[in-house]
Amino acid sequence: MKATTWAAAAAPDFHDGVNKGVAPVTYGTGDRPPRGNYAKARADYTCEQDWAQYSEADHQTYRRLVERQLQQLPGRACDEFMAAVRHLGRPDRIPRFDDISERLMKATGWQVVGVPGLIPEEAFFALLAARRFPVTDWIRRPEEFDYVVEPDVFHDLFGHMPLLFDPVFADYMQAYGAGGLKASRLDACELLARLYWYTVEFGLIATPQGLRAYGAGILSSGSELPYSVSSPEPSRVGFDLKRLMRSRYRIDTFQATYFVIDSFQQLFDATAPDFTPVYAEVRERIAREGEIEGGAVLPGERRFKA
Ligand SMILES: [Fe+2]
Repeated sequence: MKATTWAAAAAPDFHDGVNKGVAPVTYGTGDRPPRGNYAKARADYTCEQDWAQYSEADHQTYRRLVERQLQQLPGRACDEFMAAVRHLGRPDRIPRFDDISERLMKATGWQVVGVPGLIPEEAFFALLAARRFPVTDWIRRPEEFDYVVEPDVFHDLFGHMPLLFDPVFADYMQAYGAGGLKASRLDACELLARLYWYTVEFGLIATPQGLRAYGAGILSSGSELPYSVSSPEPSRVGFDLKRLMRSRYRIDTFQATYFVIDSFQQLFDATAPDFTPVYAEVRERIAREGEIEGGAVLPGERRFKA
């Protein structure tokens, strides 16, 4: 979920019982309120999935999205994703979150929980830190089939759920949540958001068979999946935490840069240390040399060809 394109802005009218302390801005800014019924959310922004309210058209939209995406996966999605995507269950119905949670809990101790849409960063981090992945409960309208501005239930479940079955990646996600809570106190969310963006949403992994996608933003996109692993256009560079935190990203079109990891363990290990000195160093470097634009390749940088 929860990254922008996908960044929403000002809070709509919040009702009693809903956290009013933080505007629901998640990773960026936008100029309109987030979509979704926040009146039904609890103080931690979670809500019940009212499965009975999905229409037949909603299930059809989900089915069409799943079928299209399943065809795209072979040779493009990483093995861990391929192995776990079956846990979504039958493709012709929007899954029940409780069913997914039951399977996830047995595998890695994670759950998925419903949310009305984008939620504030701190609420998002707190859920991840508790091994609870927030999933938007509504599905896009048919006319949004190819592109939806905010993450919907298809993106959140199809894109994110499979890798939560991988033990190392599951731990990485929890650590990210804990790191996010700390980043909030250090006013470093913007830098940390880049890590989420370039890994959880748009990450590539090098395998003996070639480049594969593990990022949910790629794996839930009909067009960016082939682009990210096969197009000669974008830059693909080796994962480097400090370089990544200096790198701007695009929210309105395909990425110009992808960061490539060698393994989830590499990602976990590289992000395990305390980020406090990392933020300080990155800020200092940005002040001195500026941010890195999408598509740029730095001297001596490890590059990956499609
Ligand atoms: Fe996402």
